[in-house]
Amino acid sequence: MKARIRAVRPWLPLALLLLVLVLSCVAQAAVNEQANGGGRRRRRSPRRSTAAADGMVPITLLKSAAEKGAVCMDGTPPAYHLDPGSGAGNNSWIVNLEGGGWCNNARTCKFRTRTRHGSSDYMERHITFSGIMSASPASNPDFYSWNRVKIRYCDSASFAGDNFDKGTGLYFRGQRIWDAAIQHLLSIGMASADQVLLTGCSAGGLAAILHCDQFSAFFAGKNTTVKCLADAGLFLDALDVSGGRSLRSYYGEIVAMQEVARNLPPSCTGHLDATSCFFPQNVIDSIKTPIFLLNAAYDAWQIEESLAPNRADPSGAWRACKYNRSACDASQIKFLQSFRDQMVASVKAFSGSRSNGLFINSCFAHCQSELPATWNDAPGSPAVQNKGIAKSVGDWYFGRAEVKAIDCPYPCDNTCRHII
Ligand SMILES: *[C@@H]1O[C@H](CO)[C@@H](O)[C@H](O)[C@H]1NC(C)=O
Ligand SMILES: *[C@@H]1O[C@H](CO)[C@@H](O)[C@H](O)[C@H]1NC(C)=O
Ligand SMILES: *[C@@H]1O[C@H](CO)[C@@H](O)[C@H](O)[C@H]1NC(C)=O
Repeated sequence: MKARIRAVRPWLPLALLLLVLVLSCVAQAAVNEQANGGGRRRRRSPRRSTAAADGMVPITLLKSAAEKGAVCMDGTPPAYHLDPGSGAGNNSWIVNLEGGGWCNNARTCKFRTRTRHGSSDYMERHITFSGIMSASPASNPDFYSWNRVKIRYCDSASFAGDNFDKGTGLYFRGQRIWDAAIQHLLSIGMASADQVLLTGCSAGGLAAILHCDQFSAFFAGKNTTVKCLADAGLFLDALDVSGGRSLRSYYGEIVAMQEVARNLPPSCTGHLDATSCFFPQNVIDSIKTPIFLLNAAYDAWQIEESLAPNRADPSGAWRACKYNRSACDASQIKFLQSFRDQMVASVKAFSGSRSNGLFINSCFAHCQSELPATWNDAPGSPAVQNKGIAKSVGDWYFGRAEVKAIDCPYPCDNTCRHII
């Protein structure tokens, strides 16, 4: 026994070094996931090289919001990060609603109260702003000098719920967090803005769509340009690989548990059930504020979690393909092409409005506006007809050009940054 212990000891320093390496990888993965918002799996970190240059933005806890009942799921105050504008961007504001999935029952919501998605106690005190949130003129030529704000996501219903669950003691106050945060930003200078942009990716992209007209209502009677950009927020009510509607069931549970209905656009809830009105396809045609939809046609999150979740794929036939597009067989690619067709069809009427913008590229991706590698207009970044994402969004926002970019079907686009 003694001999064994002695034999093991010389390896201790090496074991400690390995532990440190593993922990630093975990920390990096957490930072990357934070920036991405919704997606569950993180494989790559293209941000790593530029993240340091973009600087870290400190958190502000909105303690006064708690008086209005605007709290995270565990009752802690909501929070935001603000990087103030300068020079020409001094009176322009980007408000970014953080993403990060949802929860649909007591167990999964309770779990999130021990994470940054349910409690400000667990939120990073500094986060990196990159892509459309970057302060670097080279990476973000149109918005770098604006006031840039990220509102943290800790309600789990895309900022649209308003309920309290006595059984679990969980607060579902996303709508109150939204209202309190926007009121606060108005009070610290946003009320006199001449240009504002509401954005977000994944669950935050959905939130940007659902709250777009509410956002412009805060500027009613003012000469403020108000527009909204939804990145990877076009979650479709589509058939999954077993012919069911996995995402519809999931959304139905969220909408009921958090009493989301009364906060959804009335133009939709007037003629459809609330769960349908949590799907952008039923909402976008009647929103009055200009919107830009940025989405990968083969949205990686939707493939993994809504089209081929394990429940819909008990035999595991999709297991390889959903995490690796090169492993998809011809019939699976055909299924994914029909998903793209549905996405393109869902924006047909929307794209008829001159004030709206579109960038639907044929990539296996999820969230493209906050990663330098996908947002920047550098050679090799995603583009449709030679125009990248940052330029497309800027052209649309400032009215320099109409942008209605819909890519040819996979695999025609060799500018993609695929993540699966
Ligand atoms: C920003 O604009 C406000 C008025 O709109 C002005 O009071 C303030 O000094 C400006 N700040 C900077 C840094 O230019
Ligand atoms: C409204 O804003 C636009 C540009 O932001 C400006 O050109 C115009 O003069 C403004 N109109 C009024 C009435 O202030
Ligand atoms: C993806 O699938 C292809 C084809 O089956 C395979 O050659 C490749 O090694 C897979 N890539 C990964 C990362 O698993």
